Amino acid sequence: MSRCPELLVTRSLLLAILVVAACGGEAPAPTVAPSPAPVAPGPVVIGPDGPSDIPVPAFEVSTDPAVIARGEQVFGAKGCGACHQFGTKLVGPDLLGVAQRRTTMWIARQIHSPEKMTKEDPVARQLFKDIMVQMTNQGVADNELGPLISYLASKNP
Ligand code: HEC
Repeated sequence: MSRCPELLVTRSLLLAILVVAACGGEAPAPTVAPSPAPVAPGPVVIGPDGPSDIPVPAFEVSTDPAVIARGEQVFGAKGCGACHQFGTKLVGPDLLGVAQRRTTMWIARQIHSPEKMTKEDPVARQLFKDIMVQMTNQGVADNELGPLISYLASKNP
């Protein structure tokens, strides 16, 4: 009787543990952006606005009630409400006061490129790790982004 298969199993297990140990290290510490970081060429900066290499269309945040009402329509039409509410957690995080804990640029990147954010942004990655659901790209049009974020920014405790 040979003990080789058993040995092999033990060895591959050890190897697997080693690989996990080697690859499961801490994520690189985020660099803090000195100022609001628009998408800029050059080295990638990951700050409060999210990774600088994730492009976002230009958008404007407004407190105009008409713009906010338009944003509420977009929120409904794009199916955000299937996963998000204000004041309770559904599938995704509770969005009440989200513009107080994130910058509007970060929110824009999360809406526009949620998968990239999970890969590149430490805050989004942590949310994904906690919830274990990937936010989907809901295809928000460029001209809908400003109203949508204006609506989110109007929902504060
Ligand atoms: C399939 C469910 C789902 C849909 C649809 C969805 N989201 Fe999300 N959202 C999530 C999850 C889950 C997260 C946490 C990040 C992750 O796990 O990908 C998240 C994160 C967020 C965040 C960051 C929250 C925080 O606390 O920082 C914002 C803002 C957001 N979503 C806005 C939206 C908007 C606006 C829409 C509609 C265009 C939308 N989401 C559609 C599931 C969803």
